[in-house]
Amino acid sequence: MSTPAPRDDFPILTRKVRGGHPLIYLDSGATSQRPTQVLEAVAAMDRIHNGAVKRGSHLLAEEASLAYEEAREAVAGFVGVGVDEIVWTQGSTSALNLLAYSFSNLAAGRGESIESDRQIRNRMSVGPGDVVVTTRAEHHANLVPWQELCARTGAELRWLDLDEEGRIDLSTLNRINNRTKIVAFTHVSNVSGAISPVAEIVSVAQAVGATTILDACQSVPHMPVDLAKLGVDFAAFSGHKMLAPTGIGALYGRRELLAALPPFMTGGSMVEVVRMEKTTYAAPPARFEAGTMPVTQAVGMGEAARYLHKIGMEKVAAHEEMLTARLLKGITQIPGVRLLGPAQMRERGGAVSFHVEGVHPHDVGQFLDSRGIAVRVGHHCAQPIHQHFGVFASSRASVGPYNTVDEIDAFLESLAEVRRYFRMEA
Ligand SMILES: Cc1ncc(COP(=O)(O)O)c(C=O)c1O
Repeated sequence: MSTPAPRDDFPILTRKVRGGHPLIYLDSGATSQRPTQVLEAVAAMDRIHNGAVKRGSHLLAEEASLAYEEAREAVAGFVGVGVDEIVWTQGSTSALNLLAYSFSNLAAGRGESIESDRQIRNRMSVGPGDVVVTTRAEHHANLVPWQELCARTGAELRWLDLDEEGRIDLSTLNRINNRTKIVAFTHVSNVSGAISPVAEIVSVAQAVGATTILDACQSVPHMPVDLAKLGVDFAAFSGHKMLAPTGIGALYGRRELLAALPPFMTGGSMVEVVRMEKTTYAAPPARFEAGTMPVTQAVGMGEAARYLHKIGMEKVAAHEEMLTARLLKGITQIPGVRLLGPAQMRERGGAVSFHVEGVHPHDVGQFLDSRGIAVRVGHHCAQPIHQHFGVFASSRASVGPYNTVDEIDAFLESLAEVRRYFRMEA
């Protein structure tokens, strides 16, 4: 069948594995595969254009700097924001930590030399008596940095709870109140696949003047996402989950908020004037990009954004929805397999986690792997939501724009055999 991202673009998908099985890659939620266009853009950077970004007057430095900034432009356009509102990071984890540390630097009074709106600084400054709100659905990357921020500043951490399907329980929205300074939540859960009610959360948070932070790691690669339209203040997403290399990601921040924040990392490239007594910082995004950045990877992420844009994210989303609906229908028909998350496609992304009764997720993963099928097993860096579902770990199938219906059917056929293989049924 034809897929929105042509299979021929992905050399890795032609591999035969584990004794000759065609590779069936259903682990795009963990990391995606890269098309030739991205691999070639990355290789060309190293082969032809490698130079120090913004540090030289020679041709190679100029070419590398241009490619780096054009990549930023492509990524900014891809998520509907300004080019100066995208900060390169190593990934989402590093974007969220950058933010959490910049917040505590602000709380500690750093960056006083930055000319910015005092009201904005006060709004983002957290301390004793203030509350940071997150949710029980978070990946550890959008939970632990906020626990740590609270520990550093004396603020208190609270969270929104989940309903039976793993969706954010709107009756707990009242935990956001006038003591709340930050609301950090996921766009799409990497375990249940549930899409968060962004508009509702943003509106409640805005009403109390709280800063909103969206973990867009599992949405940006799979559906059209316009961060400006969503109205969040900050957002994080990773390159390697959207057909780009590892080691690169982005932090989006509203221009005036980034402008008011002190840096987390300091050193070369993020400064304006350095004297022995005092340093003033460059304007964002440079203020948050200290040292030599992962330039080649950034160029790869820019190319991935262009590639996905060319296909059209509506097409990607429609294809992945069709595959996910098929997965859900199939999984819910297999006896002894429990779905962890919504069974219908309403407000749902493509992470499909499940628990096979009586079989350890690692055994499920190994059995599938012996057939050439790659899925994720474990707690997917999201222990609290697993606790919510009453399991320690699970298995997860997740699709990308290159997966086919036949692959879904082959996976379902193998999954149906798991309990028999492990003698949990006759
Ligand atoms: C929802 C979510 N947030 C954050 C992360 C962390 O992303 P990275 O490992 O690229 O920093 C992931 C990765 O699995 C994720 O799924």
